[in-house]
Amino acid sequence: MNISRRGFLGALGITALGATSFANALLPAGHTAELLRSRVRLPQPFTVPLPVPPLARQVAPDHYEIVQRHASVEILPGLRTQVLSYDGTYPGPTVVSRRGRTTTVTHRNELDVPTVVHLHGGHTPADSDGYPTDLLLPVSGWTPTGHAMHGALAHGSRDHVFPCDQPAATLWYHDHRMDFTGPQVYRGLAGFHLVHDDEEDALPLPKGDRDIPLMIADRAFDEDGSLLYPSRGPEVPGVTDDYMEGVLGDVILVNGKPWPVLEVDAARYRLRILNASNARRYRLTGLPVTQIGSDGGLLERPVPHTELLIAPGERFDVVADFSDLAPGAEVIVHNGLGSGPTAVVMKFRVTRRVRDDSRVPQVLTRFETPDPARAVRTRDWRFSRGRLGEGHGWLINGKAFDPHRADAAIRLGELEIWRFSSDLHHPVHVHLDPFQVVSRDGAAPGPYDAGRKDTVQLGSVDYVEVAVRFTDYAGRFMLHCHALEHEDMAMMAAFDTR
Ligand code: C2O
Ligand code: CU
Ligand code: CU
Repeated sequence: MNISRRGFLGALGITALGATSFANALLPAGHTAELLRSRVRLPQPFTVPLPVPPLARQVAPDHYEIVQRHASVEILPGLRTQVLSYDGTYPGPTVVSRRGRTTTVTHRNELDVPTVVHLHGGHTPADSDGYPTDLLLPVSGWTPTGHAMHGALAHGSRDHVFPCDQPAATLWYHDHRMDFTGPQVYRGLAGFHLVHDDEEDALPLPKGDRDIPLMIADRAFDEDGSLLYPSRGPEVPGVTDDYMEGVLGDVILVNGKPWPVLEVDAARYRLRILNASNARRYRLTGLPVTQIGSDGGLLERPVPHTELLIAPGERFDVVADFSDLAPGAEVIVHNGLGSGPTAVVMKFRVTRRVRDDSRVPQVLTRFETPDPARAVRTRDWRFSRGRLGEGHGWLINGKAFDPHRADAAIRLGELEIWRFSSDLHHPVHVHLDPFQVVSRDGAAPGPYDAGRKDTVQLGSVDYVEVAVRFTDYAGRFMLHCHALEHEDMAMMAAFDTR
């Protein structure tokens, strides 16, 4: 598919993005969460080059080491931002695995808060999956209290063992500490973890420099460049009442830079788009793409999209075709759910004509589509607002998360239908194995439901049925809302597999 020049130099042209309009019109459209405004003057869009995160440090074959530490990084031009980092960078370094070759990642916590590492989308045994109370305590020491006393605690460092016996896919790792996932991911604890396999390698898809991960996240900054987040206090769970529906920033970062620009050849590019925002959904427009994969790996057949609706936690693996554009042409990716600064995401600038042998084949992979009639049961999971102690919170089936309670006991290998319903937008995420969307509101799955998913968008009146089969690992796992403020305010549930 080709991108026409007219399509993006239309109504929302570059002049509409000048400094004045950028400072105004900040009210978010179509959101149930609350905008946090930066106090710093926002930088001009498209002035910072898009970086690609570095690869993680390998200490032996298939063994990586990541030090979690405080770091000062340049996010806004000319300013320093203190982040909680994986190995000193934001996003964290990219881990790369080969299907079926166990990858070990040693995490060492040199921060001053406990952390939990979760590989989102990983088919991972429970003891490495990052249960929210399995704290990795700082090397400098920490005295756990409350529910934190009951997890599998590690002091200073922990080896996460990821068998990665799963298809090639775009995964990501991030913090999962109970009650504090929102602030700790917001402050920097997120990175990519890519799984490759022979089947993917054999496809003529864009590769190498033309295979680029894009981590989209919104943030708000104080005058001095530090991150703003409406916590109730240091080491106090949850956010202030205004933000309990979710924290939205007014600066859109891609790979840790505000509204960046990427120079591209006139060729096809594979873009692995991840929404790593705490609560913001995006409708990405201006860049027609061919979707080749979703959360859990390749689709069977490519799907064209003129826009992408992407919720927190979701990935869209797509090919964008710049090959018909002349050098100098520009493509701006907009966000149809934002306004002012949040209506813009990034820009691509075509620099030169090249030879490009890549293409998107009509068949990408094969996988079994489960037959819902063979499911052994249907389970209901209702996501709703509710009381949490003295205040407001977010509940599943009317209950707040309790790390000691499992709400389902599931036999490995059995096919189940899970029915998610809600009172608001909730991106629902399930650990351990991917699912496939069977129906949405009683009808066929929607345009963004294709493939093997681990996170599905739930609208305010939606109910979505998915088919899921857990395999291989017995233990305790999670499902939860991936709007991180909802997650931190109890919208999680545990299930046991056996
Ligand atoms: Cu991306 Cu349980 O999280
Ligand atoms: Cu996950
Ligand atoms: Cu939610």
